[in-house]
Amino acid sequence: MAQQATTNGQVVGYRHDHDAVDPPYLHPDYASTVPRSPSRPLVPLLHTLSEVTGPVYGHERVGELDHDLTRQHEGEPLGERIIVHGRLLDGDGRPVRNSLIEIWQANSAGRYLHDGDQHPAPLDPNFSGGGRCATDDEGRYRFITIKPGAYPWKNHPNAWRAQHIHLSVFGPAFATRLVTQMYFPGDPLFFQDPIFHAVRDPKDQQRMISRFDLDETVPEWALAYNFDIVVRGREATPTEG
Ligand SMILES: [Fe+2]
Repeated sequence: MAQQATTNGQVVGYRHDHDAVDPPYLHPDYASTVPRSPSRPLVPLLHTLSEVTGPVYGHERVGELDHDLTRQHEGEPLGERIIVHGRLLDGDGRPVRNSLIEIWQANSAGRYLHDGDQHPAPLDPNFSGGGRCATDDEGRYRFITIKPGAYPWKNHPNAWRAQHIHLSVFGPAFATRLVTQMYFPGDPLFFQDPIFHAVRDPKDQQRMISRFDLDETVPEWALAYNFDIVVRGREATPTEG
């Protein structure tokens, strides 16, 4: 780790959630937050040493093809092949190296390979919808996948999720873990998706939308989207060196 985990015996924690930016636990338009959200005020706890020092994931645990969701089965999945790439940065703008990023998503028809998803769209025998990779020394990551379809979800009448990919990012430590969703530019479903609007400020919403990236698009093969991810920085004042 680039920074010390303790100073004078005190654990140096990470910044806590940013209440003005993160979605609230209770967002009634997103119906399932009503039973799920805490009914009492939260009690903030200081980070423990194990939270700020682990887990550490080695490259050897991530398979060479784990980042390619189009090569997990005998045949290729149906749909629009895409590249999703970007950098993982901490709250101080530094690259986060050797960090595990996991994704999960619906197939091109908008169907998850999950018992809970029974809406009438086909499963794809060549697509499971899960992948992972570790960031390199510059904090870069890259996935090859299929553009997920929109899907209905019964939150309100005629409710459809905007197309999205779920991401889990560990950052340098367990305390910096972030779970979020990446959207696609120009989606016509944003206006009626209460999960998207649980992030209230339009400027913050823009940070969840990937950028179409012609430079990384591979001719005759796949469009590319760029999505940089920022995890929590340290509480301590950054110092030089
Ligand atoms: Fe989803």
